[in-house]
Amino acid sequence: MADQENIPALLRVLNGERLERPPIWIMRQAGRYLPEYRELRTRAKNFLDFCYSPALATEAVMQPLRRFPLDAAILFSDILVVPDALGQKVWFVEGEGPRLEPLIGQQDWRFGETEKAIQRLAPVYEAVERIKAAIPKDTALIGFAGAPWTVATYMLQGRGGDKDDARMEVYRRPEDVDALLEVLIETTAQHLAAQVKAGADCLQIFESWAEGLPPQMFQRVVIAPTRKLVARVRELGVTVPIIGFPRGAGAQIGAYAHETQVTALGVDTQTTADQAREAAPIGMPIQGNLDPLTLVVGGKALEDAAQDVLIAFRHGPHIFNLGHGITPQATPENVAKLVNLVKGGV
Ligand code: CP3
Repeated sequence: MADQENIPALLRVLNGERLERPPIWIMRQAGRYLPEYRELRTRAKNFLDFCYSPALATEAVMQPLRRFPLDAAILFSDILVVPDALGQKVWFVEGEGPRLEPLIGQQDWRFGETEKAIQRLAPVYEAVERIKAAIPKDTALIGFAGAPWTVATYMLQGRGGDKDDARMEVYRRPEDVDALLEVLIETTAQHLAAQVKAGADCLQIFESWAEGLPPQMFQRVVIAPTRKLVARVRELGVTVPIIGFPRGAGAQIGAYAHETQVTALGVDTQTTADQAREAAPIGMPIQGNLDPLTLVVGGKALEDAAQDVLIAFRHGPHIFNLGHGITPQATPENVAKLVNLVKGGV
């Protein structure tokens, strides 16, 4: 049997082990709260070019690892490279967020082929290879993609914000939305499998827009497509653990955790540890869920909140993380303090 000490702590927990000190990584750990990231970002003419540069993406991943003893690295990329690779126009407006040419209002929805999309995403897999070679052996490498519904909402609406237009489109054009989700399931499955082939040790599926869906629609656009996606990833020969993060799923997290076949459940800020453990299958590893705003405020508020998370989740396999991505207003000093605290320092 392999020596447990050589297996990254994150993977041990994803295998169902409970560790005295949970492994920690931070959603959006490479990002604008780091001055060196802001500097690096100026070297690419736009955000997608940045994502498609294996050298810049690798450097972005290494920046937080140099500062903090994190247990995982996450590929630097974005969930919207998939629509971009499928031929939908995607751009990022500084200070506002992503924009796409919306499908809503178009008569026919046409997409490129999966095979071509995966070819266009080759720089992402090259980045994974480079990152894998650059990170320490005890640091797990996480690959990721957006879940079909979350990516579909951006494709439908052309932007984030409230998801009312996407939800109305499910009522108005259910067959067309199903067809869109099918394209996303196949392309995303191949995208995830290619990341694992290139060196990712585990995967996370970001379902950032699970909120506000009535139960039947949640089944149709979140659970069924995610279950198909996970099954397809497995069919492609992938055996690594998969973390599902259905942000805002509320009362539906139990159905999500039981029915999608994900290995571990990521929980958002508003979910209690007890709710998550009761809702999930027995022994399922749970990831979360510190309020990212405590990393802006710092001090005793941060210490207390981090201790609360440690205590609340201590009875089962736990991966320490935030309940949502870190904000640009967070400080590196507060992140250092958090990582130290979770690792057992003072
Ligand atoms: O976590 C990491 O360090 C890995 C990189 C990563 C990014 N985006 C880089 C990024 C990951 C995992 C994502 C996922 C992502 N992208 C999600 C799911 C997670 C979530 O936050 O709910 C979503 C919804 C997107 C789409 C997206 N990309 C948005 C809404 C934005 C704008 C956000 C903002 O704060 O302005 C992006 C841009 C983006 N993706 C940035 C980064 C570091 C900031 C843009 C920049 O640096 O100019």
